[in-house]
Amino acid sequence: MFAKFRRRAETPQPADSASDHPPQPSPAPGFSGKAPDPDDTGPLLSVRGLERTFEVGGKPLRVLKGIDLDLYPRQLVMLRGRSGSGKTTLLNLMGGLDTPTRGEVWFRGQPLHAWDDDRRTAVRRKEIGFIFQSYALLPLLSAYENVELSLRIAGVPRSEWKSRATACLEMVGLGKRMHHRPYELSGGEQQRVAIAKAIAHRPRLILADEPTAEVDSQMAAQIIAMFREIVARENITICMTTHDPTILEVADHVYEMADGVLAAV
Ligand SMILES: Nc1ncnc2c1ncn2[C@@H]1O[C@H](COP(=O)(O)OP(=O)(O)O)[C@@H](O)[C@H]1O
Ligand SMILES: [Mg+2]
Repeated sequence: MFAKFRRRAETPQPADSASDHPPQPSPAPGFSGKAPDPDDTGPLLSVRGLERTFEVGGKPLRVLKGIDLDLYPRQLVMLRGRSGSGKTTLLNLMGGLDTPTRGEVWFRGQPLHAWDDDRRTAVRRKEIGFIFQSYALLPLLSAYENVELSLRIAGVPRSEWKSRATACLEMVGLGKRMHHRPYELSGGEQQRVAIAKAIAHRPRLILADEPTAEVDSQMAAQIIAMFREIVARENITICMTTHDPTILEVADHVYEMADGVLAAV
């Protein structure tokens, strides 16, 4: 169904800490207020000086202490780091689910950090897909209905729902399981429904938080092969968190989160 996964080498190198060289002047906005080029040559998403502090028991907990990151079109990027290092916090900020304490998140030239929740939600529904460790499917809906729901929410015309939802479920190898509900599917199958759901509305970016943590190693390899195929075929960038060293090998770029900052590995 899917070619064995392979590493892509031809994607551009991010301009920040991913390079062995000293930091280059950023092509992205930095704090200059100039948005990055929203077309295919510039970064799809740029994070600059990102900080997030939570209030815990009346005391500030500084989780992100100044993150810089560029994601380019058609990349598979992985974040690793010990539990509690702030990976989920960063993904939430990149997807506009949370507001930074300080710093900037630019998605296709749009300043998510400066926008209210309604505006961020509108962008997220159309242009970003999420995949979670625990699948996050609606239990009373079939696999097909779960995928169709993301097309409805994104405002895709009704006439396209059936063909697109079916094509996405076939793409993840579930053409014959479309009318099953989540509880009638294995963990790996449920995660594949979640992948179909995340790509259905043709987002440009997918954020996947430990998507292989609850499946066996064979299914994890299949999921990563699907991610490579999606990146190649659907003009999507996928940024995911993982602990699995075998999976990390397949990434275009790997970053390590430690002490509230991010370093290229
Ligand atoms: N909403 C929140 N309120 C308070 N503390 C939080 C909140 N979200 C995350 N944290 C804390 O921030 C730290 C990083 O969490 P998280 O981003 O989930 O890490 P990871 O995904 O790398 O395991 C943890 O110490 C966690 O307890
Ligand atoms: Mg997490």
